[in-house]
Amino acid sequence: MLQQQTMEIIKQTAPVLEVHGVTITKTFYQNMFEAHPELLNIFNHTNQAQGRQQTALANTVYAAAVHIENLQAILPAVMQIAHKHRSLGILPEHYPIVGKYLLGAIQEVLGDAATPEIIDAWEQAYGVIADIFIQVEEELYQQTEQDGGWRLFKPFKVAKKEVENDLVTSFYLVPEDGSTLPNYAPGQYISVRTAIPGEQYLANRQYTLSQAPNHDAFRISVKKEVEATPQGKVSNYLHDTLQEGDVLDVSAPAGVFTLGESQKVAFISGGIGVTPLNSMLQATTDQEVTFIQCARNENVVTFKDAIKQKLQTMPNANYEVLYSDKEQYINADIIKNTIPQDAEVYVCGPVPFMASAVQLLKEQGFTEDRIHYEFFGPALQLA
Ligand SMILES: Cc1cc2nc3c(=O)[nH]c(=O)nc-3n(C[C@H](O)[C@H](O)[C@H](O)COP(=O)(O)OP(=O)(O)OC[C@H]3O[C@@H](n4cnc5c(N)ncnc54)[C@H](O)[C@@H]3O)c2cc1C
Ligand code: HEM
Repeated sequence: MLQQQTMEIIKQTAPVLEVHGVTITKTFYQNMFEAHPELLNIFNHTNQAQGRQQTALANTVYAAAVHIENLQAILPAVMQIAHKHRSLGILPEHYPIVGKYLLGAIQEVLGDAATPEIIDAWEQAYGVIADIFIQVEEELYQQTEQDGGWRLFKPFKVAKKEVENDLVTSFYLVPEDGSTLPNYAPGQYISVRTAIPGEQYLANRQYTLSQAPNHDAFRISVKKEVEATPQGKVSNYLHDTLQEGDVLDVSAPAGVFTLGESQKVAFISGGIGVTPLNSMLQATTDQEVTFIQCARNENVVTFKDAIKQKLQTMPNANYEVLYSDKEQYINADIIKNTIPQDAEVYVCGPVPFMASAVQLLKEQGFTEDRIHYEFFGPALQLA
């Protein structure tokens, strides 16, 4: 453990780190990738370009520093990150590299303000935080293997490609070696690792398993990112190039956004954020369920029929669909009229959509512990 004096230095300097957090993490990544370009095979370059990963890392380092005397307080965040790390094959030997360039960046950005005592304190603190991640991740690797999964990546064959609508196609993936699929918790995702022709580095992305757990295939349902420039690299590759019979590398299911035990559940999806919520819904049995599905229009609403079919088999079910092209948006009345006050609520969709849904839920008296959400990218603070 850290000495009291080291803890004091960390707590005193944490606010400075918060102010400079994103500059420090940007400097850190730039220097680290220059020295270790092989790590560009692991990191998502888009999240780097958009600054999302730098922000997520800065927030976490700051939170860890503030809670340095009681790291238990940030354990839920550690678990979420550790699942992502495990799904990307992060290993203990990566931690000293990150440590070296993170400390170097703190020194570089803070300049003379970073005295040797301060740097030494942060080096020790990084060691403590890294050890926790390494230990939690090793436990996850072992658990994954015990549950019939595998460490790192394994080749999977595309058994079937199925167009869902104008933007979304599902891929049914089976192990190339014919081995049995592991079980997974509804809501979990896999990482796929693609070698896109013409690209210098491998590109990894997470995709949610979009149907209830089964032993036939992993199904992922991918939205083709075509609206913004540049067009999405991996989603377009999967849609346009990857064919039935082709092989891609897949990691074992991971993630902490999973269905709890509550008897009353509500799902609020925005666009392709429906994937984990459909998987959870299809795995429900006798719960009281509300499903509010938001989409742009009827041409791109995904799994609407499957959701409605499932809800029809349930005695206490409620379904609402809202199309933004028709100016239909989630609002306080819809929440009040369709979601029981004591339900657990699961939300997934674009960041602004989730921010507004979560805000509305809180205004309606839903406490934070009953609101669960998943980011389709590095976790950010919604407020
Ligand atoms: C846990 C989790 C689960 C997920 N589940 C699903 C799922 O079920 N289905 C699904 O479709 N997706 C899912 N995603 C999202 C998925 O992982 C990818 O992020 C998504 O497919 C886009 O990847 P891409 O390579 O096609 O796009 P990218 O190439 O990463 O681009 C994404 C967006 O960023 C913009 N962009 C790219 N480069 C830059 C740049 N240099 N500067 C500024 N903007 C840029 C692009 O225009 C595009 O709009 C999930 C993500 C997570 C983290
Ligand atoms: C104590 C040290 C570390 C901390 C605090 C940390 C923190 C984080 C955070 C907050 C995320 C975002 C998680 C999410 O919401 O999706 C993340 C993702 C990630 N981390 Fe770490 N991390 C650490 C060490 C490492 C190491 C050693 C590596 C390997 C070199 C690594 C590689 C990654 C990758 C590849 C991602 C996914 C990034 C993306 O998709 O953009 N991390 N980490």
